Amino acid sequence: MNPIDNDKLTPETTAMVKVWDWPVRVFHWTLVASVMGAYFTGESEDYERLHQTLGWVAAGLIAFRLVWGLIGTRYARFTEFVSGPAQVWAYVKSLRSDQPQHFVGHNPVGAVAVIVLMSLTVLSVYTGWLLTADDAAEWLEEAHEIAVNTLISLVVVHVIGVVWSSRTHGENLFKAMLNGRKAAPPEAGIHRNWGVLAWAMVLAVAWFVVLQLRG
Ligand code: HEM
Repeated sequence: MNPIDNDKLTPETTAMVKVWDWPVRVFHWTLVASVMGAYFTGESEDYERLHQTLGWVAAGLIAFRLVWGLIGTRYARFTEFVSGPAQVWAYVKSLRSDQPQHFVGHNPVGAVAVIVLMSLTVLSVYTGWLLTADDAAEWLEEAHEIAVNTLISLVVVHVIGVVWSSRTHGENLFKAMLNGRKAAPPEAGIHRNWGVLAWAMVLAVAWFVVLQLRG
């Protein structure tokens, strides 16, 4: 994972190129819907089944993303955005200069948030699943609540980070997560969008939810 040369970031040398393929974007917004849906259905017994179903959807999405992080398109790959503390620190330090490091995919700090968000989602689903046992220990309820509340707090930090980073780097990251495009040197773009795979994901999620809620 290397920052792009700031000299290559002029309007003359950049174009709107594809960075996030369809599966990454479908993963993100379906994860948002399932995590928020599970959060708002967690308190009422009337919605227990929906709550659990949304939890499984979130877990399934993370499982998919782990695989896509190994075999997906360039910026979806972990090797492209997971970095060590030295790289995170170098990025943070560069933010104080007038030429902050610029990354086409996730920046090193955003990448840490991404990994922690995914881990907390898994932890929330795992503690929730353990709670479904008849003889579940009482402390598990508290553990589930702590995991979920930490996750939601981090989502708030994540959204603030997205707004802040968009302003710092003069780009609209929210829009990029919708249309997949960012301003970058033309050769930096990905070549395949994997739309069919994204459709398969949507159908699999819809099919799973319907089956769970009907059964
Ligand atoms: C439950 C709430 C949310 C969760 C769990 C979540 C999780 C994630 C994850 C895991 C990624 C990495 C995507 C990937 O590489 O596949 C990501 C990226 C991103 N998220 Fe969220 N997100 C949430 C809410 C939001 C919201 C409300 C926004 C709207 C501003 C947002 C905007 C973004 C953007 C713009 C990126 C890409 C950041 C970049 O360009 O580096 N997220 N999010």
